Amino acid sequence: MSGSNEEKPPTEAELAQMSRDELVQLGTKLDGVELVHYPEPWPVEGTKAEKRAERTVALWFTISAIAGLAFVVSLIWWPWKYESPENSGGHFWYSLYTPMLGITLGVAVLGLGVGVLMYAKKFVPQEIAVQQRGDGGSGEVDKATIIAQLADSGNRSTIARRSLIKRSAGLGAGVLGLGTVALPLAGFIRDPWEDTEGRDSLWHTGWQPQFPGEVVYLRRNTGHLGEEPEEPSLLRPEDLDAGSMETVFPFRDSERGSHEALAKALKRSDNPVMLIRLRPADADRVVKRKGQEDFNYGDYYAYTKICSHVGCPTSLYEQRTNRILCPCHQSQFDALNYAKPVFGPATRALAQLPITVNEEGYFVARGDFIEAVGPGFWERKS
Ligand code: FES
Repeated sequence: MSGSNEEKPPTEAELAQMSRDELVQLGTKLDGVELVHYPEPWPVEGTKAEKRAERTVALWFTISAIAGLAFVVSLIWWPWKYESPENSGGHFWYSLYTPMLGITLGVAVLGLGVGVLMYAKKFVPQEIAVQQRGDGGSGEVDKATIIAQLADSGNRSTIARRSLIKRSAGLGAGVLGLGTVALPLAGFIRDPWEDTEGRDSLWHTGWQPQFPGEVVYLRRNTGHLGEEPEEPSLLRPEDLDAGSMETVFPFRDSERGSHEALAKALKRSDNPVMLIRLRPADADRVVKRKGQEDFNYGDYYAYTKICSHVGCPTSLYEQRTNRILCPCHQSQFDALNYAKPVFGPATRALAQLPITVNEEGYFVARGDFIEAVGPGFWERKS
């Protein structure tokens, strides 16, 4: 509080008797503030300009509300399941899902922000005040006067009689709030794991054979996006140098010739696997996990690419140290020790895919992972 005032501060009883205008004047005086310019934003009520300003502010809040509503509707009802480019209509709408979420949420936030800015610009008094800097904490008198000043500012902004602005601002903020509530709830409404034991549940991946004896090959993603489905690039042991790593995906004969099925296998988030070929000297030092002693094929080990921390892709394999690194939070896994975590926040080893080489010389999976890949979830006990 400034020590520049020479008047004795009023008592609490006197303060209680003072009107808001008097408190505003007192506050500025006690603070050594000089109001150089303190105009009423709209001294004459109901002018065209005033109404236009009000409608402009309300328009932005309404835009925000409509965009917020569109966000919630898109989040829940927009086609979100993968559609291959073969189905041109379906693919078009599916491909707009993420942009729709971004655009609608962006416009909702922008509309609300612009509305608040416009309101502050058009209706909050644009006073010019000069104040001397003071030391020390705030006393009762300061608190009372600042509250009065704030209330006066609100009063002068005429918000009390701006029901259009209040309603549209409430609508915009309300719908945006609805969007933030809908985000965590959307996972329950559009639950991809409804069938907790099914093939698409968190317990299984695309490596699970769809019928007994089905062969599931290890395949590269060559990035081919042409109209004609390509011949899948299957892997043989000689395709990998010692000390190298290749990301592989499942391929089954039933997918041959189907662009959609081939693309789906690449899209499924728990499918990517790191196929690592250890250097022979390193392979001699491997410690295998109990019950998984035969999951490797010679020097070749296949680990899920989904980090056991929160599911980022653990895409980095460091040949010299045999460490697998997750770039998200720097967890490191030891490829010589069944990919158990040795650094960082991850606490569980990366799931290992059992592999072998079939009579044609191609790598194939010997079944699905024997545990869920990736981070923990409610039903998971380990
Ligand atoms: S997701 Fe891999 S370390 Fe966090």
